[in-house]
Amino acid sequence: MIEPPADEGSSGEQHARPLTPESIAVIMDGNGRWAESRGLPRARGHEEGAETLRRLTRHCVARGVRELTCYALSTENFRRRPPAEVADLMRLLQLYLDRNREELLELGVRVRFIGHREELPPEVRESMERVERESAAHDGLVLRLAINYGSRSELVEAARALARAVRSGELAPEEIDEERLAAHLHDPTMADPDLLIRTAGEERLSNFLLWQASYSELHFAPCLWPDFTPERLEEAIASYAARLRKYGAVRSSDPVPRPPVVDAEGR
Ligand code: FPP
Repeated sequence: MIEPPADEGSSGEQHARPLTPESIAVIMDGNGRWAESRGLPRARGHEEGAETLRRLTRHCVARGVRELTCYALSTENFRRRPPAEVADLMRLLQLYLDRNREELLELGVRVRFIGHREELPPEVRESMERVERESAAHDGLVLRLAINYGSRSELVEAARALARAVRSGELAPEEIDEERLAAHLHDPTMADPDLLIRTAGEERLSNFLLWQASYSELHFAPCLWPDFTPERLEEAIASYAARLRKYGAVRSSDPVPRPPVVDAEGR
C-alpha cells in the first residue's frame, strides 16, 4: 500500500496534530430525518439534537477536550429554510442557552459564537451575549456555536478588512500572510480543529470552517445527530488516533492518548 504524503502547509512545515484531538468540530446533521422517521414534527428532532449537544458538551469537559465547535445553523439554512422552522430553531436556541447557562457556567465552559448574529432576533442575541459575557473568564472547554455562519462569507469579510488596511496604508500587500488573514476570521482565538465530525451519513463540509479545517482529520458518522452518543464520539476519536498512529505527524511532546472518561451522567 502506498502511504499518503505527510500533510504540508504552504510553509512546507508538517501540520502535526496531537494524538488525542484537542479541538473538535461537528456538523450536527440529521435532526429532521430523526423526527420524520418517527412521525414527529422536525422541531422535535431539533429539541433532541439540543439534548445531544448538552450530553456531548459534558463528555468533552470530562475528557479534557479544549474546544468544541458546532455548526448549529448555516447562513443557507437561515435564509432558505421555511420561516416557521427558522423561528422554531431561534426559539430553541434561546431556550437552550437560558436553560443550560448555569450548567455551562458550573462546568467552567467558555461559550463563544461565530456567524452573523446581527440578523438574529434581539432576544436571542441578548441570551447569546449574556452567556458569552458570564463565561468569558472561564478556562475550561470552549464551546463555540456557529449560528447563521458561512465560511465563504467569513473569508470574504477577512479579505475586505485586509483590503481596507492596504487602502489606508496600514499594510502592504506583501505583508498579507496566513496569520494576518486568520486574525480577521470571526473568532481569531479559535484553534484549527484536529478532528471534524459530520453525522447522518453526508460526506461534505457544507461551507463550514473551510480555512480552519484545512488539515483536520474528517470523520463521517452514519448515525443521525440525535443518536450521536458519547460512545459514538469515542469511536470517532479512536479512528482519529488510529490514523495518526499509522501516518505519524504527532507532536513529540504529546502524552500517550487518554483513556475514555465516563461523564458525570455515567455515559
Ligand atoms: C441539521 O439537521 C441541523 C440543523 C439545521 C440544526 C442543528 C441544531 C441543533 C442540533 C439543535 C441544537 C442546537 C442549538 C444550539 C439550538 P437537519 O434538520 O437538516 O436534518 P435533516 O438533514 O435530516 O433534515
